[in-house]
Amino acid sequence: MANVELIIDGERHEFPVVEGTEKEKAIDISKLRAKTGYVTLDPGYKNTGATMSAITFLNGEEGILRYRGYSIEELADRADFLEVAYLVIFGELPNEAQYSEFKNDIKVHTLVHEEIKNILDGFPSNAHPMGVLSALLSSLTAFYPNSLDPNRSAHEVHLSIIRLLAKMPTLAAWSYKNEKGQPVNYPDNGLDYCGNFLKMMFAVPTEPYTVNPVVESALNKLLILHAEHEQNCSTSTVRIVGSSQSSLYSSISAGVSALWGPLHGGANQAVIEMLESIRRDGGDTEKYLAKAKDKEDPFRLMGFGHRVYKNFDPRARIIKKAADDVLENLGVDDPILEIAKKLEEAALNDPYFVERKLYPNVDFYSGIIYRAIGIPTQMFTVMFALGRLPGWIAQWKEMRENNEPIGRPRQIYTGHNLRSFVERGDR
Ligand code: CMC
Repeated sequence: MANVELIIDGERHEFPVVEGTEKEKAIDISKLRAKTGYVTLDPGYKNTGATMSAITFLNGEEGILRYRGYSIEELADRADFLEVAYLVIFGELPNEAQYSEFKNDIKVHTLVHEEIKNILDGFPSNAHPMGVLSALLSSLTAFYPNSLDPNRSAHEVHLSIIRLLAKMPTLAAWSYKNEKGQPVNYPDNGLDYCGNFLKMMFAVPTEPYTVNPVVESALNKLLILHAEHEQNCSTSTVRIVGSSQSSLYSSISAGVSALWGPLHGGANQAVIEMLESIRRDGGDTEKYLAKAKDKEDPFRLMGFGHRVYKNFDPRARIIKKAADDVLENLGVDDPILEIAKKLEEAALNDPYFVERKLYPNVDFYSGIIYRAIGIPTQMFTVMFALGRLPGWIAQWKEMRENNEPIGRPRQIYTGHNLRSFVERGDR
């Protein structure tokens, strides 16, 4: 592969070009500062490849998303979430024996330590479940001190991976029960991953609970669609926290915090709140489109636009279709689905959105499905975290296996030059 030449003050410097398996090219500037004294400036890392990764291929121009080479369309249509989790984390789809061992290992670890209930009880009941989830995940380090040193052994790392996958639904459901002020439910290992989560969320001591297969299958699809998405904000956070050799639990807890914001995973909650307020305001989508275009107005069309997808988000296409199917199957008539469709159509025909290549993203329709299957709005981003867990784990594991250096970007300093200290009374 040809090198790239950079000329600084008439002096030529050569840098290698690296190419990925899908012919993506990057200039390797890892020796830039050593050779030239310069650094690059790239706020938001819009052009910075932070790693070479074999997990996910994403082509934003063509709307392609593949986990380990398998298309998202095929996985969402045919796979089971745990199968996809195995694929993402370990690199290959499991055969029957591997799948059943993986599933059984997870079932062994679904309970959480009883003392976690004491931690949960310490939160006010109006605590946002994302904050609770992040704190509970970090608290796992206290119950499993061997996990603190990720260099301890491959066996310990594997155990942490299994424990995380097993306990995440329990912690997520418990964070909801805390908000609801209801007693928590213990895991039911007779159920599959999604069914067990739904039961822990929705069962109450006074009523029998049976898992609705339509709801279980919709959840399975949503989790697959969220399972991995290469170097986004939360995944980069997980990698960078892990790069200091911090434990897997604390790295994932940091990822949950990064996901929480409305520009990232928190958008699914923000979308529903936006659609609700449009409905309450009479359903005038044009008014909100105008607000989104007005640079003086901080309002943005939530669920629209993406850092990487500039044509369409393949996940959004699958989810839009699934939303129609799920609502029809459950006999739910949600007026905000109509508002969402009206808004999408208007935006897709509006030059502001067309010129900026702003399309509905994964979060635009996912909240409508969550609502239809009974998940409360405050829990939407927790659902995203539940789905994204395998991706975070896989990226943390890959970063460790590649022996990547600690993440530590540079900056260009714009503050004062050296000045002398002045005593307080003289200032
Ligand atoms: N509504 C109105 N204008 C928008 C929107 C929007 N949702 N998104 C981007 N723009 C405009 C933005 O104002 C800018 O315009 P101009 O060029 O005139 O300054 C242009 O489009 C480019 O936007 P940007 O903010 O520079 O793009 P970015 O890559 O930094 O941000 C984004 C990407 C997803 C943060 C942004 O599109 C956004 O805020 N969307 C709404 C929040 C959202 O839905 N987030 C979920 C993302 S998908 C789930 C996930 O993986 O996290």
